Amino acid sequence: MSNHIYINEKICDFKKKISVASDKSISIRSILLASQAIGVSKISNLLESEDVLNTLKAIKKLGINYKKKSGHYLIEGFGLNNFSLRERITINAGNSGTLARLILGLLVKSKFKIKLIGDTSLSKRDFSRVIKPLRLFGVNIQSKKNSLPIEILGTDYLRPISYNEKIGSAQVKSCIIFCALNTPGITQINAKKSRDHTEQLLRSLKYPIKVNKMNNIDKITVNGLGQFKSFNHIIPGDISSAAFFIVLVILSNKSEMIIKNVNINESRIGIIKILNRMGATIKLKNKKIYRGENTANIFIKSSRKLKGINCPSYLNSSAIDEFLIIFLVAAKAKGISTFKNLGELNKKESPRLDIAVKFLKMIGIRVERKKNNIKIFGNPKLEITKKIHIKKYLKDHRVFMMACIAALSYGGNWKIEDKDSINTSFPFFLSILKSLGAKIN
Ligand code: S3P
Repeated sequence: MSNHIYINEKICDFKKKISVASDKSISIRSILLASQAIGVSKISNLLESEDVLNTLKAIKKLGINYKKKSGHYLIEGFGLNNFSLRERITINAGNSGTLARLILGLLVKSKFKIKLIGDTSLSKRDFSRVIKPLRLFGVNIQSKKNSLPIEILGTDYLRPISYNEKIGSAQVKSCIIFCALNTPGITQINAKKSRDHTEQLLRSLKYPIKVNKMNNIDKITVNGLGQFKSFNHIIPGDISSAAFFIVLVILSNKSEMIIKNVNINESRIGIIKILNRMGATIKLKNKKIYRGENTANIFIKSSRKLKGINCPSYLNSSAIDEFLIIFLVAAKAKGISTFKNLGELNKKESPRLDIAVKFLKMIGIRVERKKNNIKIFGNPKLEITKKIHIKKYLKDHRVFMMACIAALSYGGNWKIEDKDSINTSFPFFLSILKSLGAKIN
C-alpha cells in the first residue's frame, strides 16, 4: 500500500459537528496508572492509536493483563511495583516519547535488567533528561549516547530527591513522579510549567501528592509508597488533534465547526489563547469537570481578519505540540508574528522548528530565524499554485497533518508522504477530512 497522498484542491466551506481522537497523554497515563492500581480499572473511549497500543503491549510484557469488553478496556493491576518480571524483557515504545520516558519511572525497582527500544525517530531523542534524575534516585541506567536503547536495572534502595525540572517537560516531570511513587519518603519537584495530567489523575485517585502552583513553576511533593485502588476513566478528546480542524476552519472562507468534548486543561489551551489573540473566534461552551480535568465543546468560525502576534514565551508549554499548525495561521495573518525560545520543538518526533522554517519558505513565506526565535512575515493573500512535495523524513504525525491542512487551505498540487504516521495519534484524521468534503487521493 502506498504511504503517500495527493491533494490538488482546496476544501470548500462546511458546517459540521465532529469528534476528534481521544487524548493521547491521558490515555497513556491512564493505562500506566491502572497497571499500578489495586484491582480492575475500566478505561472508556481510550485512544486506539499506535502509541497507546504500544503502552498496552508494554504493560502486558510486564505481566499485567487487560482485555477489551463492550468497547471498554479492563486492566488488572496488583498495586505499585507489582509487575511480574523475568529476565530479558524488551519493551518497544515505538514512536512514543511519553511511553518511553514515563515507563522508566515504573521500572525503578526491577530485579532484572529491562531493555527499552523505539523506532528511528524515538531513537534520536534525548533521554539524558530522565536518566539524570533517575540516577539521583539511585537507579542503575545504561545507555551509550543518552538515547535508546536503554537498559534499566532497579534497586531496593531508592532515595527521595529534590529536583528542579527546568525544561518544562511533562514527560520528565511524570517520570520523576512515577519513580517517587516507588520511593520511600517525600520527593520534591520544582517543575517549570507543563501539562499536569499525571498530577490531576493521581489527585483524583486520592494519592498523597501536593501541587502548589506558583507563577512560573509548580512545586510538587509526592509521598512515596502510597497505594491506590483501581478506577474508571472516560478519556476526553485531544486538543492537539482538534488543533488541525480549528485551523482548517479559521483559514477557510465561511465555515463553522463544533468539536465535541475536548480536554481544555489550562496547561493545554495555549493554541486557543494564541489564535484568539490573532483575531480568531474560538469559543468554549458546555464546560464540565471530570477527574480534575476540564472539558468543553469548541466552537470555531472562519476568521477574516487575522493579525500577527508577538507570542509571549510563557504560552509555549501550553501550545508545545501545536506550533506547526499555529505557524500556518501566522503565514496568512497581516503583519509579522514572532515566537521565541522554541528550542524544545527540535526535540520532538522530528526537529519541528527546523522543519517549520523550511516548510514556510517552501510555500513562499518569508521567515527569519535567530537561534530558537522566529519571525514569520504573514501574507493575507497567500495562495499556492505550484507543486509541493513533502518527503518522509522522521516519522512525525504532526508534520503530515499540518501539511494536509496547508494544502486544503492554500491550494497547490501536493504530494505528502508518510501517511501512516497518523496512526500514532489520530488514525481517522483523513476520514474526518473526507467527511468535510476534502478531496484526497
Ligand atoms: C507529552 C508531553 C510533551 C508533548 C508530548 C506529550 C506528555 O512532551 O510534546 O507530545 O504526554 O507528557 P515534553 O514533555 O517532552 O515537552
